[in-house]
Amino acid sequence: MIEPTKKQLSRLKAHRDATAGTTISQLFEQDETRFDTFSARCGDILFDYSKTAIDEEARALLFDLAEAAKLEDKRAALFAGEPINVTEGRAVQHMALRRSGEEPVMIDGEDVMPGIREVRRRMVEFANGVRNGSIAGTGGAFTDIVNIGIGGSDLGPAMVTLALAPYHDGPRTHFVSNVDGADIASVLARVTAATTLFIVASKTFTTQETMTNAQTARAWFVEQVGEEAVRQHFAALSTALDKTDAFGIDEERTFGFWDWVGGRYSVWSAIGLSVMLAVGPERFDEFLAGAEAVDQHFRDTDIASNVPILMALVGIWHRNVCGYDTHAVLPYDQHLSRFAAYLQQLDMESNGKRIDLGGNEVDHQTGPVVWGEPGTNGQHAFYQLIHQGTSVIPADFLIAARANQKTGDHHEKLAANAFAQTEALMVGKSKEQARNELLAKGTSKEDADRLAPHKVFPGNRPTCTFLYPKLTSFILGQLIALYEHKVFVQGAIWDINSFDQWGVELGKELAGELLPVVKGEANAEGRNGSTRGLIDAFHAMRAG
Ligand code: F6P
Repeated sequence: MIEPTKKQLSRLKAHRDATAGTTISQLFEQDETRFDTFSARCGDILFDYSKTAIDEEARALLFDLAEAAKLEDKRAALFAGEPINVTEGRAVQHMALRRSGEEPVMIDGEDVMPGIREVRRRMVEFANGVRNGSIAGTGGAFTDIVNIGIGGSDLGPAMVTLALAPYHDGPRTHFVSNVDGADIASVLARVTAATTLFIVASKTFTTQETMTNAQTARAWFVEQVGEEAVRQHFAALSTALDKTDAFGIDEERTFGFWDWVGGRYSVWSAIGLSVMLAVGPERFDEFLAGAEAVDQHFRDTDIASNVPILMALVGIWHRNVCGYDTHAVLPYDQHLSRFAAYLQQLDMESNGKRIDLGGNEVDHQTGPVVWGEPGTNGQHAFYQLIHQGTSVIPADFLIAARANQKTGDHHEKLAANAFAQTEALMVGKSKEQARNELLAKGTSKEDADRLAPHKVFPGNRPTCTFLYPKLTSFILGQLIALYEHKVFVQGAIWDINSFDQWGVELGKELAGELLPVVKGEANAEGRNGSTRGLIDAFHAMRAG
């Protein structure tokens, strides 16, 4: 954090110390208009952050914090295509992928839009061909698509395809990511080679998991159909076009993207091909349009009503001012059941950093642990801890006004639960209330005294709610882009590089070193006692 930001943070902490005794419920008692003044809209999405302890003064201080961190300059540098990913010397321009209109987007003095449009045109042509059967497999029209990728080359398309399931009218889609052979084996057992299209999705085309799964799929396919049909049944999504060729994938079936698209920001690029195949190019365009609308909102809206900035500042308040360690994302939307997993990569791979842009260790917290599951399922699992545990866990609730399907009053029940949870977390229940309730039910005084402490809800637990009309492709594009820009704003305030991911490298290197040891082709000499012991035991168990 740069000095002026640190000063602002100290002011915020002082304000928090002075006001910590005021509960969120009391803030509502003090201000009848709090819901209106502590909520904002981005298009059709309503973002309510009134159920947090942020008061007028805290919010003003948070705005000053953003200014002190030079957020506006950093946002301008992002949109201008400057190489803000300084450790990799790259621009960050996933926004260009969802840009409509004719305006150029310059990176290194070159307009990248013609290249983007050309790849998208080819994707549309290909997707339409597959969907109408004019591009087919050796056994006829493709019935199944198998996307092989991991991280951003899997989570984005897998999450989005699931989220847009109500609009799915193309071939069945399957996603294989784990190097655990169980993953590819279970998918191969479900598909017919002659009508299956394999999409190898990898920015680098070197990732161990993806290349292993791709080779396994290829060998299986060759055994079933033959080598000569590989070009007809395999497509590639990558920035490494030389490597896709070496794998035997036809140039016409290769869809490229660029190094200024981070893996976790790549669902808008060729990496989204499986989504386009599933829901069609028009829906995919709507998905891009939703994200583009948020880009414009983020770039042009005043800070006080700028939803991604507000989301980020609420997060900074919880992480740096209140000291909360984790952040739960709780979609009341079964189709968003992979949303938290997607956000884990987006947020934790971006902001899980401890070195600032100047190369120094930070002296403040950065990204929280992000986790979550859909409601109402989570209510019957981990909400106990959110309500009564020793940690305060700020949570985002997401709920649509209308469901995509007609199923009696399911949706009203779902919504009632979402609203009830945020209220329960805020208002809680005192010991006296708990005791009186027990007495009213006829419990003896002695038992009421004994049980009441267990039935206390401390309350005053912060939540934000996103309310949207219906989970359409446009809304989904908006939701993802809101979180993307939130992550950017937080990284900007923390003064870290949100766009590299060196933290994944060491494990990859060691796995490479250990593979021959695990295979028994090299010995474990020189390794630490635990790793050596584990590998010896592994060999012994296998021999047994
Ligand atoms: O291991 C991390 C990572 O590099 C992610 O950032 C990326 O999304 C994923 O691996 C997959 O990489 P690739 O698309 O190059 O196979």
